[in-house]
Amino acid sequence: MTTSLDHATLLQKDSHQLHGLHHPNAHKDPLIVERADGVWLYGTDGRKVLDGMAGLWNVNIGYGNQELPDVARDQMQKLAYTSNFVGMTNPPAIQLAEKLAGFAHPTLNTTYFTSGGSESNETAFKTVYYYWRRLGKPDKVKIISRMNAYHGITIAAASATGVTRYWKMFGLPIANFFHIPDPNSYRYAGDRREGESVAQAAARALEEAILQEGPETVGGFIAEPIQGAGGLVVPGDEYFDLVRAICDKYEVLLIADEVITGFGRTGEMFGQHHWDLRPDIMAFAKGVTSGYLPLGGIQISDAIRDVINSAAPEDSWMHGITYSGHAAACAVAIRNIEIIQEQKLVENAREMGKRLGAGLNRLKDEFAFVDNVRGKGLLWGMEIVKDRESKEGDMAKASAIAGAAMQRGLRTRPVGAGTLAFSPSLAITADEVDTIIELLGSAMDSIG
Ligand SMILES: Cc1ncc(COP(=O)(O)O)c(C=O)c1O
Repeated sequence: MTTSLDHATLLQKDSHQLHGLHHPNAHKDPLIVERADGVWLYGTDGRKVLDGMAGLWNVNIGYGNQELPDVARDQMQKLAYTSNFVGMTNPPAIQLAEKLAGFAHPTLNTTYFTSGGSESNETAFKTVYYYWRRLGKPDKVKIISRMNAYHGITIAAASATGVTRYWKMFGLPIANFFHIPDPNSYRYAGDRREGESVAQAAARALEEAILQEGPETVGGFIAEPIQGAGGLVVPGDEYFDLVRAICDKYEVLLIADEVITGFGRTGEMFGQHHWDLRPDIMAFAKGVTSGYLPLGGIQISDAIRDVINSAAPEDSWMHGITYSGHAAACAVAIRNIEIIQEQKLVENAREMGKRLGAGLNRLKDEFAFVDNVRGKGLLWGMEIVKDRESKEGDMAKASAIAGAAMQRGLRTRPVGAGTLAFSPSLAITADEVDTIIELLGSAMDSIG
């Protein structure tokens, strides 16, 4: 049992934890969240903060839902957990996999459950290796990813991640991971031919990378439909059509990392729906349970499933995670998805997203250091720049604004080269969106 301790005591005892993305000096005055409701976090020191990030882009239905604890308790009383390896299964895992069949794309009908996004991407990479090995092409082990992508923190997932500060002190990326420029239309890092759109140039970069490495060695390409933690990059509309065609041409499996963009975040149920993208593998996590319990997974195409199902026993897909198909987590996910559907939260994300985007654009008109406001649904970013001419990102100012916003009761997050990110609960109200803009404006005013 946890006991009720006061703020000062908790703060002191917190030194026993190693926090993620850790430097102790950056952890001086943490918000110790005691409870939360809707978009609001309540700290043990009496602070009330509007969580403009919904945790880590994941609390899609909002905090404090009182149904999901009942679902978890009922399921735990019957069966919290049991092995889901071959030979055993459980009703919530069966029903969730069935609910997800064809949910994102008609060809994605088979799910393997994990505990989160990094594990999902690890599972995806191993499945790429497995697939090509089974088809007699064991050299197709290279994975192409994009600069500024974020795919997680385990060794292969962090190697696919294209943010160099996640590599530096770990000697990453490991072999066989390659990065091409992301389709950032504000600040494209690759070469661009005359008359070429950024989407076309970025897709060409994929084809050139495949040719340079040798198509017979490239197994997969991984992309977030909208890049999140690396700086909120929304691709041009042609991008994924071009990318899909290139992957087909060179027999490269396309992995859509929908860990942030899944389950309504972008104003469609999945980010891929904005462009009718057909992935071979889709990774998901976060919004599948809105963070009420940890869960993730991959969905594989029918073609990949058939290859796994037709293997000789000695060539089985020898992959398995203890908590795969966790009964309580799967039961919570089923109800969470029903809530997203019943409460029309995807539609609300679309509506409130327009309001949030309009508000952020008003701040761009007001402050010269704000540029390139972009987003879809309730996934938005704004650039904080030294000046609009050079487009040089100002991470120090973005962090200062985020700090000033937090003092005023708004949580946002600086990501990328100086992007402020916004990803509130999909259940946010118009008044709460206006509060984000008001508090952010006041924070910007105070920084000048
Ligand atoms: C797009 C994307 N993929 C993968 C991950 C990793 O997920 P997790 O932190 O659950 O391992 C994240 C986490 O933020 C993410 O944003």
